[in-house]
Amino acid sequence: MKYIVTSALPYANGRLHVGHVAGAYLPADIFVRWLRLHKEDVIYICGTDEHGTPISISADAQGVTPQEVVEHYHKDIKAAFDAINIQFDNFSGTARAPHHEMAQEFFLNLWETGHIKARDTRQFYCEHDKRFLPDRYVEGTCPRCKAEGARGDQCDVCGQIYDTVTLIEPKCKICGNTPIIRDTRHWFLQLGDFTQELQDWIAHKDYWKENVRNFMLNLLEQGLVERSITRDLSWGVPVPLPEAEGKVLYVWFDAPIGYVSSTIEWAKNKGEPELWKEYWLNPDTRMVHFIGKDNIIFHALIWPAMLMGQKESYCLPHDVPANEFMNLEGDKISTSKNWAIWVNEFLQDFPADYLRYYLAVNAPEKGDSDFSFADFQLRINSELNNVLGNLANRVFAFASKHFEGVIPAVEYDEHACSVIQEAWDLINQANDGYREYQVKKNTRIIMDVARLGNRYFDERKPWAVIKEDKDQVAVTLRVCADLLAMISVAFYPIIPQSMNKLRAMMGLAEVETWDNALQEATFAYQLQETQPLFRKVSDAEVEEQLAKLHSGSQEQSVEYEEPKPLINFDDFGKMDIRVAKILEAARVPKTDKLLHLKVDIGFETRELVAGIAQSYEPEKLIGRHVAMLINLEPRKIRGVLSQGMILAASFEDELAVTGPLSDLPPGSVIR
Ligand code: 2FM
Ligand code: ZN
Repeated sequence: MKYIVTSALPYANGRLHVGHVAGAYLPADIFVRWLRLHKEDVIYICGTDEHGTPISISADAQGVTPQEVVEHYHKDIKAAFDAINIQFDNFSGTARAPHHEMAQEFFLNLWETGHIKARDTRQFYCEHDKRFLPDRYVEGTCPRCKAEGARGDQCDVCGQIYDTVTLIEPKCKICGNTPIIRDTRHWFLQLGDFTQELQDWIAHKDYWKENVRNFMLNLLEQGLVERSITRDLSWGVPVPLPEAEGKVLYVWFDAPIGYVSSTIEWAKNKGEPELWKEYWLNPDTRMVHFIGKDNIIFHALIWPAMLMGQKESYCLPHDVPANEFMNLEGDKISTSKNWAIWVNEFLQDFPADYLRYYLAVNAPEKGDSDFSFADFQLRINSELNNVLGNLANRVFAFASKHFEGVIPAVEYDEHACSVIQEAWDLINQANDGYREYQVKKNTRIIMDVARLGNRYFDERKPWAVIKEDKDQVAVTLRVCADLLAMISVAFYPIIPQSMNKLRAMMGLAEVETWDNALQEATFAYQLQETQPLFRKVSDAEVEEQLAKLHSGSQEQSVEYEEPKPLINFDDFGKMDIRVAKILEAARVPKTDKLLHLKVDIGFETRELVAGIAQSYEPEKLIGRHVAMLINLEPRKIRGVLSQGMILAASFEDELAVTGPLSDLPPGSVIR
């Protein structure tokens, strides 16, 4: 049996935070490690998702190319995965040429068999920027739930995906103007063609997580509609048709093909370029996609349809374990608000296994979970240290003191047999748990083996017995050491480094197979230099982390805008910037960002529209003296002739008008 395991390709436009890891990466890495212990033939595939409008928008904002953005974040994200020991067989990127070729091949196969159709559509177009505004290039009010700030392709609040032109109050993301609607040709995947095949396929997926399966069944029941798979953009995979100049494939069409192209890259790097086919063009391959819940529709519906429509016969997803989200100290993780724990930074302060353990204990499997530093400290101290670390320490200390570090292969008595049996039952439960991606439950089950060991140690009272019956103590130590050996295997997928460290101290080789869990029983353990397995997390460390988080003093997640090229004095002199006194201020109806202002600039009063409504209540502005560029070409915005621009500083969501300038009269020149 061959396995392809994938984790959702992270967008190459931001750093990796703990929420990402908890959802789609750690559970996959754990599953893969477990499969490898069972000697299964598995490849673990990932890479960065390098297309899509967030990347080109952030490149524009920084004055760099999208290629530079993705190269920067690809490196940064890969370093974070390395730090937390997520071990992919290949980590590629979708801007690479072989991926473009593969994505075009997927498109052409569907096009030639009639599963893609072209037609003219209406799209938003910005006359100011002279370009179409796909997806995130436009913002407005969601046509379904009426939330503001909805993107052109999807509403973050209600999750609805809609036809862009139905967005209410659309605004160009680049210049803030209201776009017009223009005709442009686009290509549509005929999902409906695959209804029957999808239905037959899903019928056998009764082992899927309920949320994923129900979601699918629901969509099938509603009836599948065609999906647009092209965009008017320059950054992306060019649509491979002569009549599609200037169009690229929609990021969600090309992204999952990244799983294939990353495997192709893997095979090439291995020097066996055809090897990828043995996995992908093999109906028996078990392909498991680990994702977050927001990716279900793409992996469980659209992607299988894309695979079904290929000329070659590809394997289909065997399972799509989708996890829920992880919050942080009770609030949603937010990159833009810097409310996140960045993996790279966190792992400068704590060992990778502490984070892996905590994210596993707290895995958002059935519902959203919460990362809290107090809970992190509690889990590390009271479980890893006080239960597992304690069992190892007391066995090692006793064996060193009374047995010169050798725990002999003595025979079990009845009590010992029953303890070992109980432990073995737990280990078998953990084995089943891994098969079903039950990471959270497994941390408890395996920790129970250590609890069992501590209880047994206490009952046997070796500190009292040692004086009269050394043989009995040998049995006690032997049983506890066997439990530690079992634990070192069972916990290996979750905390691999610590478990190999534990084994090294016990004189055992690194974990290789699940069967390692018991095979040592006939050998003596020869303890090597021992040391505490874990260290505690102090109150001071927790306070420090919390302070970092709350002050946002972590390294900023945004890059500063590139400085603009030098200008000469004359260029600057062309701008007429004055002190303006705000006389009147009111919200522009049906907008959330705009204020209609009347200002006094000394020699006259003027009206203008300013995009500062989200930072200032209109009444608070009245009487304020602010800086204003007064010789900017007048422009009509929302029916008001806007004659000038109020200057303001902005950083991410924060915005502040220039001032106070209250000592100067309106009309004063600023230079
Ligand atoms: O949601 C996301 O972060 C996407 N970049 C996931 C893509 S998964 C796949 F299909 F490539
Ligand atoms: Zn515009």
